[in-house]
Amino acid sequence: MIKIKGIFLTQGLDPASDGPGLDGRPQNPLRIGRGFVFFMEIISEIKDMQALAAEWRSRGFKIALVPTMGYFHRGHLSLMEYGKTSSDRLVVSLFVNPTQFGPNEDLARYPQDLERDAAQARGVGVDVLYTPTAAAMYPPGYQTYVEVERLSQGWCGASRPGHFKGVATVVLKLFHQVQPEEAVFGEKDYQQLAVIKRLAADLDLPVAVVGRPIVREADGLALSSRNTYLNSAERAAALCLYRAILAAREVMLTDARSREDILAAVRKIIMSTPHTRIDYLGLVDPETLEEVGTVRQEARLLLAVWLGSTRLIDNTLLAESRLCCV
Ligand code: PAJ
Repeated sequence: MIKIKGIFLTQGLDPASDGPGLDGRPQNPLRIGRGFVFFMEIISEIKDMQALAAEWRSRGFKIALVPTMGYFHRGHLSLMEYGKTSSDRLVVSLFVNPTQFGPNEDLARYPQDLERDAAQARGVGVDVLYTPTAAAMYPPGYQTYVEVERLSQGWCGASRPGHFKGVATVVLKLFHQVQPEEAVFGEKDYQQLAVIKRLAADLDLPVAVVGRPIVREADGLALSSRNTYLNSAERAAALCLYRAILAAREVMLTDARSREDILAAVRKIIMSTPHTRIDYLGLVDPETLEEVGTVRQEARLLLAVWLGSTRLIDNTLLAESRLCCV
């Protein structure tokens, strides 16, 4: 890929050029010689996003949406790469959603770097980076929220009251604004994925919610924008989440499949690691997120652990019949 004045020339793909867009500007991609120039638009007005989405829909394009809060890492990029292959038009939203942060959480210091994010998204071939403002998303007088009741209550919902109400509301708004046929989320935030799947099913939303595997560092730490908060001692200690996952998978190799056996192995690893405090550990049904006593067929191991003042989450699939590895 060659970068020319912020535009990426990508060779080897052969998508059809589809002429000028709403405002007369060329739409992606545009053939130039043997390569293709990808333009990525940054749209911040809600009405502009809605108008472009309506135009794309009327032309029969399949739109995929990857909702994010920015500060991209390879986890975000993996969702974009997937969305690129599964759709005709890919929108990535970048919005640090204030309603999903509690009063004592990290909204004010949440990492941001729009320029770097835009370059990375453009590199993947994203068509629109959608950056609505908080003032437009929640104007004065705003008072409508949506809540996915039972699924939002336990686990992260218990530690972060109101969090999933904020997530479900903003995602529903984004769905209305971008009108995707497909929305791509990471399994890293497993409860969030379950909540959004339920939201889409319960409200008959015409969108397929797709979950994608967790992307990890080489040493196993799940990528997260919040990893930047860790000092070097905490970063080293943070590996205990993945080590705990490996220990749980090992327990599965023996005949012990009970909640007690699995969580005891997990707890032992985390509690013997300095700088850690367990927020919760759960062995749950993958859909309802209700606790299970034994792994029958499949269960999800959920972990939330404090490393100093940073709370990290991770999870893995544990299956009766095979060794799982996300
Ligand atoms: P954010 O934390 O930016 O995450 C955006 C998406 O990236 C989520 O679907 C998340 O699960 C996924 N993701 C994060 N780390 C990942 C990893 N290591 N591997 C794979 N996917 C990963 O989640 C949110 O934003 C917000 O709650 C949002 C859905 C945008 C609503 O505001």
